[in-house]
Order: sequence, then structure tokens, then C-alpha cells
Amino acid sequence: MGVLHVGKADSFYLQISNVASDKSISHRCAIFSLLSDKTSVIKNYLQAEDTLCTLDIIKSLGADVKDKDGVLYITPPANIVEPPLILDCGNSGTAMRLLMGFLSSCDGFFVLHGDRYLASRPMKRVAMPLRDIGAKIDGRQNGNLSPICIRGSKLKPFEYKSPIASAQVKSALILAALNAKNDAPSIFSEPELSRDHTERMLKGMGVNIEHKNDKIVIYPNTKPLQPLDITIPSDPSSAFFFAVAAAITPNSRVVLENVLLNKTRIEAYKILQKMGAHVEFVQEENKYESIGRIIVEHAPLKAVEVSENISWLIDELPALSIAFACAQGVSMVKNAKELRVKESDRISAMVKNLNLCGIAAIEREDGYDITGGKFKSFEVDSFGDHRIAMSFAIASIVCGGMVKDTECINTSFPNFTELLSKITQVGAQ
Ligand code: S3P
Repeated sequence: MGVLHVGKADSFYLQISNVASDKSISHRCAIFSLLSDKTSVIKNYLQAEDTLCTLDIIKSLGADVKDKDGVLYITPPANIVEPPLILDCGNSGTAMRLLMGFLSSCDGFFVLHGDRYLASRPMKRVAMPLRDIGAKIDGRQNGNLSPICIRGSKLKPFEYKSPIASAQVKSALILAALNAKNDAPSIFSEPELSRDHTERMLKGMGVNIEHKNDKIVIYPNTKPLQPLDITIPSDPSSAFFFAVAAAITPNSRVVLENVLLNKTRIEAYKILQKMGAHVEFVQEENKYESIGRIIVEHAPLKAVEVSENISWLIDELPALSIAFACAQGVSMVKNAKELRVKESDRISAMVKNLNLCGIAAIEREDGYDITGGKFKSFEVDSFGDHRIAMSFAIASIVCGGMVKDTECINTSFPNFTELLSKITQVGAQ
């Protein structure tokens, strides 16, 4: 049970080049390296609890992982090994859902499990479409909750229209499609584009994936894929906590270096811009992904309504809500029911905590309203959710606060408190 005491911050100018590496891309690097027959070379793999769990999982599946001076060399096994122990996904829905898609067509029996928070998150969004194409998946509540058991089998090609825009669902199905029998293509579509790292990375490895209007057509692999050779940029979702810190603190500015600039991942910065903050994107390279610098400067913020592209904001809405609480007027979040099934129920957690900070916030089934106001010094809980913990650590810089149950920050951003201590006093207990 870690507790963080964070003091009020004065104005700051900060340049950060070591925000934690991208979590989504790190998980994918570990899992996708199993699809090649050669050694993948991964620089800047995220050294955080969740992504280290995923590395342990691929080791249990037979991969050889060597770390030489911080560079990972991942050599896949000739055949996936049937592990004697359960595969621990930690707190990560991404790991569990992507592995469900991948393992469904691997020879053997596999059990996926995680921590108590992950154990309450819905898996049927992946289990049901996979079962429909022949996967043998079971778990508590008829395959909805972990432990999830998988007996690998031959899968059929499919046409699946996902009812939710979820990159985890999309990635699980794309991984399943790669091993579909008859060499026939599969077709996937979703209500709006979710983050597209899977498509980009797999294409780069040689998968035949085509985009036809709103549909993704995936052709099964006929030969092993090319290995990955990648340097993982900083995570824009993690960097965003410091963007909000600068936006809400008068006379402050942050320069976030080497950040992923994929359009499905920087929407929250554009909302900050719409609210009045000065935000600038400077692209510096473009290999698998666009990467560069983001500069954010304080300006008086005004309220905003957010109801579109929610999947592009899903991880940043907690931090963005701290900016809403500091803005002039009532901000509204709509169409965001997915927030209820994240690492915590983020609608309920944000509203409850903001009220404890003296900010008027009301909950609706698919979102919430926040009336900008004056923070009072507070004590709040993280509900075991890393993004709630870091959002309120940032809120504390307005007038001081205390956040309980903050160990979860280590699942995605282990150097968060070290960076926060560059702008204010941080005490850990
Ligand atoms: C992720 C996708 C998102 C996001 C999660 C990471 C990914 O979840 O919230 O933190 O890496 O694919 P959904 O796909 O369920 O929306």
C-alpha cells in the first residue's frame, strides 16, 4: 500500500527525454517476436511490471530473451512450448487479450491469469468471437473472467464486425487470423479506428494486411515473418501526465522528447489545445511510427465537450479530467462507457475523487460532467489503477494532496515520481 504525498508546485520549465517507453508497443514487440523464426532486436523495451510479465510469458512459451546493455534480443522457439505453470499477465488486459488470440491456434494447453483487478475485467469480448471460429476457450463465468484456459486448435477464417472500437479485440482477432486454415483471408471491422500498432508492426514484419474502406483484410501467414528491429518511443499516454501538469500551472512549460505521435494516441493533447493550452508537435522521425517532440505551455483553460474518438482518449481521460477541473465552465464526457471496464471503473473513480477534492463532478452511465473550480487539499484512493493514481498525483500540484495505493504506478511508469519530484516535493510512504 504505497502512499504519495505531493506538494503544491510553482511554475516550472521542464524538458523530459526519459518518459517510460510505450506500453502498447512493448507488449506487441514481445508477443509478435514469436511470429518470426529469427532474432528480434528491441531497444527501449518498457521496464515496468506489466511488460516484464509479458516477457516472462514469452520465455515460458520457449523464447530466448537476452538483455545486452538494455537492448533485448528475442529468439523465438521452433515450436511454442506448452508451459507447466500458469501465465501471469499481471495487471494487463492487453497481454491477456492478445495472448488469447495468439494461443488459440497454438498446439497445447495454456492458462492465463493476472492480479485481482485483471481477474474482474471482461474477456468475453475476445473469447466469444474466437470461440465462433473454433477456439477452445474457457474460464470463470463461461469464459468471461480469468483464469482463462485455452486448448489450441485449428481456427477458421472469419468476417467479424466488432461492436466496440478496441485495439485489444482487433489485435486478438488479427493474431488468430494469421493461423486460420484454408489459407483464406479474414475480415475485421470496428465502429471507429482504434490504435493501429498491430497492423503497422505486422505489416512491417511481412504480413499481408489490406485496408479496404473500413475493413481490414488479413491473409494467413504462409511463412515465418521477418524479425522486429525497433526502438520503442516514449509513451504519449504516460507523457500526458506532465502535459497536464504544465497546462494547469501558470507560467509553466514542458518539452516531451522522443514521444510516439501516432494520431490514435495524441488526441488528448489536441483536446488540451482546444481548451486553450499552447500545444506543439514536432515530428522528428517516421519508421514504423511517427515520433517526435510535444511542447505544452500553460494558458487559461476553458471547458470542452468530448464525445467523439473516445477510443483515442481512453487512457488519457483520467488526466484530462484534472485539466477539466481547472478549466472555466462545465466539461462533459459522453459515449465513454468503456471507461467502466478499464483497470478500475474510471467514471466512478474520477467523479468520487474529484468530489473529495472539492470539485463538482457528476456521474452518468456513459460519462461525466466536471465543473471547473478550486481544488482543496485532498486524500484520495487510486482504486488500484495506475492512471487514477498518477492523475491525482498531478492534481496535487494545485494545492497539495495525498494519494493512497500507488504501487500500481509501477505497472506502466516506474520513473513517474522521480520526474514529478523535478517540479514539486514528493514524499513516498
Ligand atoms: C491497448 C488498448 C486500449 C488501451 C490499453 C492498451 C492496447 O484498450 O486502453 O491501455 O495496447 O491495445 P482497448 O483496446 O480495450 O480499448
